[in-house]
Amino acid sequence: ELKYAVIGNPVEHSLSPTIHSLFAKQFNLNLSYKPIKLQIDSFNQELLYLFKTNRLHGCNITAPFKVKAFEFVDELTERAQIAKSVNTIKKLNCGRLLGDNTDGFGLTNDLINKHIELTNKNILLVGSGGASRGIIFPLLMQGVKKISIVNRTEHKARELAKEFTPYGEVESLSLNNLQVVNSDIVINGTSATFSQDNFILSSSLKFTKNFTGYDLNYNEKKSDFICWSEQMKACENYNGFGMLVEQAALSFQLWFNQTPNTKAIFDHFRIFKS
Ligand code: ATR
Repeated sequence: ELKYAVIGNPVEHSLSPTIHSLFAKQFNLNLSYKPIKLQIDSFNQELLYLFKTNRLHGCNITAPFKVKAFEFVDELTERAQIAKSVNTIKKLNCGRLLGDNTDGFGLTNDLINKHIELTNKNILLVGSGGASRGIIFPLLMQGVKKISIVNRTEHKARELAKEFTPYGEVESLSLNNLQVVNSDIVINGTSATFSQDNFILSSSLKFTKNFTGYDLNYNEKKSDFICWSEQMKACENYNGFGMLVEQAALSFQLWFNQTPNTKAIFDHFRIFKS
């Protein structure tokens, strides 16, 4: 039996166990994939124990542990190194633990599946936390021309933009001065999904062209961002369900060297389709 898990806190509602079970069926793999809730203080100890005792061969890491996992692993893929966060761990044959991050390329694969052009496009990225950090390099690698970052706490947007300028054109914008937007895609990387207030971008913004709205979060209910984006007359709006499935496929590929069919998963979870 192949022993895998998703590790987070909370983790009970994760869709990853279902997604990976469906992938495993496609290849007749005998996969056990479970949610494991760990406590913040004992994360390193417990995870090390699970790997050392062969209770785990690999895992996904979700909130709030992605940065801890980045510090925990023995080796990193280039994309995890650049994102400074890890969402996938694989135990190598030598016993060392490899950390990868499939979130960002999960997003770009989903955008490609949806026929959303990235080459030479401008992106407005809202938020400067872990979710935003993970997608900047993959978007630039797909030929995005410019990424403009805005954030409630402005200095974080400035710092994030500065960190990624070696990889392409990344700037930060001040929320107060933002009036006209010339972006082709607006991505929500904030965690404020259903806040008391409205979405942090004003509904008086002027867009110079049609844009696509994409929320990195996924929910059955419309998020504040999707409501705002609809109000701004975005031509299409998507939540992050496609990204979730595609990042899972890339993790599966890292573990088993097999590329699962993700379309079958979309049919299974029709309720999350946006
Ligand atoms: P994650 O790993 O999910 O990205 P995070 O690192 O805590 O979580 O980042 C959360 C992001 O959502 C940040 O950009 C945060 O803005 P601040 O840097 O100003 O904290 C943003 N965010 C969270 N709650 C928000 C709210 N109510 N309004 C606006 N932005 C919010």
